[in-house]
Amino acid sequence: MHVTIVARAQTDLAPPASPAPVSGRGAVSRLCWPDEAGCANSAQALARLMAPALRHGSSVLIELRGTLGAGKTTFTRHLLRALGVQGRIKSPSYAVVESYDVEGLQVWHFDFYRFADPREWEDAGFRDIFSGPGLKLVEWPDKAAGLLPAADICLDIDTDTDDRRLVNCHSETEAGCALVQAWVNHPAAQGDAPRLQEAS
Ligand SMILES: Nc1ncnc2c1ncn2[C@@H]1O[C@H](COP(=O)(O)OP(=O)(O)OP(=O)(O)O)[C@@H](O)[C@H]1O
Ligand SMILES: [Mg+2]
Repeated sequence: MHVTIVARAQTDLAPPASPAPVSGRGAVSRLCWPDEAGCANSAQALARLMAPALRHGSSVLIELRGTLGAGKTTFTRHLLRALGVQGRIKSPSYAVVESYDVEGLQVWHFDFYRFADPREWEDAGFRDIFSGPGLKLVEWPDKAAGLLPAADICLDIDTDTDDRRLVNCHSETEAGCALVQAWVNHPAAQGDAPRLQEAS
């Protein structure tokens, strides 16, 4: 399965409350997370949408871009927690990859910031991981340019203020577009906790 992500927060400077249209591959939607709680709510909404397909053996690849400290790992932590990962969720900055098994659901969290040797791609078995089922989240995907398959969800997180993040998202796959569409139209995509509770 393939995907793309979008979230928007309600702020005085944010775009209108209605979700940006997602009409197909490459269509970009702009989201705004007003604070980390909004990021968490949006991640939880996406986790709910992805979980059934993932548990039936689908593959989802999410690429996360943004400067140091933008929130790539933070979003990933909230997403993995919502999928049921327990215990410490470490940043893979040094190990390149951290993996999790949530009741049979395989998850890999990559950080290619220090990735420099393409031979590692084969030696470490990354090719097999990216061609198989499960959830793969990738920080700094451009450091592995040419090696990664098309992404279901591409998030580009921009720091607006200390707490607010502006997020551009799109999908590179047909299957991912459906997931993005569902996420954008979810009541919690804008990080609104009360509406998330009402929807559950
Ligand atoms: N709206 C928000 N969304 C996400 N993180 C936020 C938000 N507001 C504040 N933060 C904070 O920003 C920081 C983001 O750090 P994080 O490690 O997630 O960045 P990163 O993009 O993974 O950086 P790196 O490229 O170094 O791995 C955290 O301290 C988090 O608490
Ligand atoms: Mg990180």
